Amino acid sequence: MKATILSVLLLLIVSTLSAQRITGPISPHFQQWLQANGYASNDFNRRDLGSSGSFGGRADENQKIVNQPVVFVHGNSDLALQKDAISTYQTGWDQTAAFFLKEGYTAAELYATTWGPAQSSQALQQTYKCEYVLRIRRFIEAVLAYTNASKIDVIGHSMGVAIARRAVKGGSECNLGAALTNRVDTFLGLAGVNYGLCTCQYAGIITTCNANDGFFPGQCGSQSICAFTLQECVQTQYATFMQNLNEDPTKEGDNIFAFWSNSDEILGQGSKAFGKVTARIPNMNGSKTYNSLKHMDVKDKTGADQLKAVRDHLIDMTDLPGGGFQGNGSSLPTWSLPDISGLISSGLAALQGGGRPENRANLPMLNLPDIPSFFSSSFQSISDSLKNLFNGRLIL
Ligand SMILES: *[C@@H]1O[C@H](CO)[C@@H](O)[C@H](O)[C@H]1NC(C)=O
Ligand SMILES: *[C@@H]1O[C@H](CO)[C@@H](O)[C@H](O)[C@H]1NC(C)=O
Ligand SMILES: *[C@@H]1O[C@H](CO)[C@@H](O)[C@H](O)[C@H]1NC(C)=O
Repeated sequence: MKATILSVLLLLIVSTLSAQRITGPISPHFQQWLQANGYASNDFNRRDLGSSGSFGGRADENQKIVNQPVVFVHGNSDLALQKDAISTYQTGWDQTAAFFLKEGYTAAELYATTWGPAQSSQALQQTYKCEYVLRIRRFIEAVLAYTNASKIDVIGHSMGVAIARRAVKGGSECNLGAALTNRVDTFLGLAGVNYGLCTCQYAGIITTCNANDGFFPGQCGSQSICAFTLQECVQTQYATFMQNLNEDPTKEGDNIFAFWSNSDEILGQGSKAFGKVTARIPNMNGSKTYNSLKHMDVKDKTGADQLKAVRDHLIDMTDLPGGGFQGNGSSLPTWSLPDISGLISSGLAALQGGGRPENRANLPMLNLPDIPSFFSSSFQSISDSLKNLFNGRLIL
């Protein structure tokens, strides 16, 4: 009898532990601290999003902070925590946070706020604008001050990668102030868009694709089609925000890593622009490539790898189906997008009429190179990506 009660109790404890999940919004203790320390107007809480708008904070003054705090920065139209059970592109940081909790972190060590409207219907209007960068900068500053941590880790996903990179690098671009490099132990970018998005090459008319603070991929040497490159070339004329970010030698932290997937339906085949990985971060220490993860999976299914990267500064190449390989994203095979000429001429002709990217006069007309047919298998990826765009569901 005793043994039965004991095992039932044990079972209860085990199942409670395994069901551990983070709850939002940020704790009342953190909320009070924010009010008292000049952050009231930032509304990091985001109560308009219910309990999904934010998370993190100590339960009370006595709760100790043991692990290095982590700040999470979500992507386009996503939010701090999952919106509902059915929104594919609004899954928040639930799964990553649950993993960190399971590994001994507490809610006092895990922080996120929502930086955008969190509406899929507004995804195509989102850009790397200063308002968002400043918000994330302020949030990072608040977490540093609130936790008294000498260093934190920063993990970004998708569009959140470049936003967080700029926030940490600081600088005059958005009047951000000094770099926070020496306050960041590890910066991890998941499926980021740092060198533009091929889907945006012929859709500069769409706000999110613009050439200032959008995802416009520019050109590589004299080549304007965002596919494989016939010879080594340097990518130029891509959106100013990303270009400034990549040319700024200030580092994002002591250790810099990036993860991406070959099957990312948003970033496109191989997550590449002009044959190189758009998710790479200049001067990063290492990276991991997944073969079969979708865009949101690179955030939602890689908790173990994220933890290893930020806590141990290690990348495990073996523990996911498909494995991964290490590299800096510049040395990967140069083939990337398949022949998209058919799609472009039929589908995008209408859009393109007058749809030149702002600030980038004379987008060269299509001059398609001969693309080997064996790459037609990757056609599906770009066509999905374009479909998302046309349906107004391009989410980054
Ligand atoms: C941070 O320092 C302040 C002032 O010394 C103190 O009141 C607060 O409890 C500390 N916070 C943590 C998380 O240790
Ligand atoms: C990453 O690179 C920096 C600078 O080269 C170095 O100080 C740091 O130790 C490296 N981190 C890892 C995990 O190798
Ligand atoms: C990337 O790696 C390749 C080969 O491993 C190397 O030649 C190249 O200089 C590296 N690029 C950067 C930006 O580190």
